[in-house]
Amino acid sequence: MGKVHLEDNDTKEKKTEFSLVRVKGTWRSTMGKKDNKDTADCVSAAKLYESITEKCTTWTVVSPIVFTYKVTETQDLLDPSNDTLLLGHISEPQELEDIKKSNKPIKRFVVVDQEVYKIYGPKLTEYLDAYNVLYKILALPTSEENKSMEMALKILEEVNSFSLDRRTEPIIAIGGGVCLDIVGLAASLYRRRTPYIRVPTTLLSYIDASVGAKTGVNFANCKNKLGTYIPPTAAFLDLSFIKTVPRRHIANGLAEMLKMALMKDKGLFELLEEHGCMLLDTKFQVDNSVYGRKRLQPASQATHIAIMTMLEELAPNLWEDDLNRLVDFGHLISPALEMKVLPSLLHGEAVNIDMSYMVYVSNEIGLLTEEEKQRVITCMVGMELPVWHEGCTMELIQKSLQDRLAHSGGLVRMPLPVGLGQAEIFNNTSCEILHRAYEKWCDELSISPDSSCDP
Ligand SMILES: NC(=O)c1ccc[n+]([C@@H]2O[C@H](COP(=O)([O-])OP(=O)(O)OC[C@H]3O[C@@H](n4cnc5c(N)ncnc54)[C@H](O)[C@@H]3O)[C@@H](O)[C@H]2O)c1
Ligand SMILES: [Zn+2]
Repeated sequence: MGKVHLEDNDTKEKKTEFSLVRVKGTWRSTMGKKDNKDTADCVSAAKLYESITEKCTTWTVVSPIVFTYKVTETQDLLDPSNDTLLLGHISEPQELEDIKKSNKPIKRFVVVDQEVYKIYGPKLTEYLDAYNVLYKILALPTSEENKSMEMALKILEEVNSFSLDRRTEPIIAIGGGVCLDIVGLAASLYRRRTPYIRVPTTLLSYIDASVGAKTGVNFANCKNKLGTYIPPTAAFLDLSFIKTVPRRHIANGLAEMLKMALMKDKGLFELLEEHGCMLLDTKFQVDNSVYGRKRLQPASQATHIAIMTMLEELAPNLWEDDLNRLVDFGHLISPALEMKVLPSLLHGEAVNIDMSYMVYVSNEIGLLTEEEKQRVITCMVGMELPVWHEGCTMELIQKSLQDRLAHSGGLVRMPLPVGLGQAEIFNNTSCEILHRAYEKWCDELSISPDSSCDP
């Protein structure tokens, strides 16, 4: 907090560090210790640095911004006995008490994926009516093709005419990753940042899109080219939504779950290896309905580990400043593949094809044994995920890695499994290895093994 005066005789620069303290409602910069400790009612974590040279004066602002958000797994989110959807984001006990006591009606703007609305619309309105909420529900066709700025603007126009209190009335998004991403972007733009709540209704959004900070829409033919890093105030997760998700979309979510398993958690891998097919068949509903809150059952255990491992990787790197990201596994080649064959592959399917090839690369380098490689591929096939695609050519792989090199500080930064449930980042995998792995991958998997749940 003390002052720093540096005089560099060569450049004739005079540097000063200021702390910022609030005294009786006014912020003041201060260099010494004396006048702030005794009288300040608040000392900011921000700093101000002043640099004076012969040419110019520069102030540098260092202002740490802290994001706090909750990811809550709950049950019966739309049951009127559960007030999580309306009040679960509030952490301050006093604030909660005041709201509960006050006669002022709760006001909420809710955006719902149209397909989700068809199934859960009546339950949602019943729920909001039970709490006498003043609400507007906007049901929209939030498909990947509509994931655009136009859709975000449409939401913003409606939000604007509904007139929300930006501080206390978060926008609620209910749907898959597309809906959550568009609404998140709209909310981060409205009045520069309006709080929002995510309610994921697909498996992929449950374990992936709802737990992080990213929002976005597609732009200029590129996925998520426009977006922000603004987390929701809270994400409320209820597995029972998953029961109506089409089977192919469950497998799609399992791919992102397998990513976390291969990178970070052998237990999760073994769980998917043993129960992946059952989870697909039962749409994650079995232990949820039969065993209540027990965490020891495959469905809740798998989602729990997937969310926890994901949060471990995201929380210290919310704005993705660190480019060495294990969560990028499966995402080096898949974006180009996804765009190339659109709309024939879902996101998780493209990710799985990428991971399948990378498993061959790991094996070729000697990081994964033949047996481990085989176990991973068998697990993928058991979960009805594609392990090979004719569109994933060597040219596409090379081009993707070159693009990565250009956008990732001159390094490829390739996360690869080193054994099951552990990974490291590799920067200099040789072309020879990539080619040999590719040939083997095509030889062994181009006639994809039958994906069947029967033993
Ligand atoms: N923000 C992030 O960190 C992040 C992370 C991963 C993926 N994403 C984004 O998420 C998107 C993919 O998400 P997704 O796989 O959820 O796709 P999606 O939102 O398109 O949903 C898939 C389909 O399922 C339907 N659906 C949703 N919930 C349903 C339910 N409960 N019952 C029946 N049908 C239901 C939808 O109408 C849609 O047709 C991509 O755009 C991707 O970029 C974002
Ligand atoms: Zn992904």
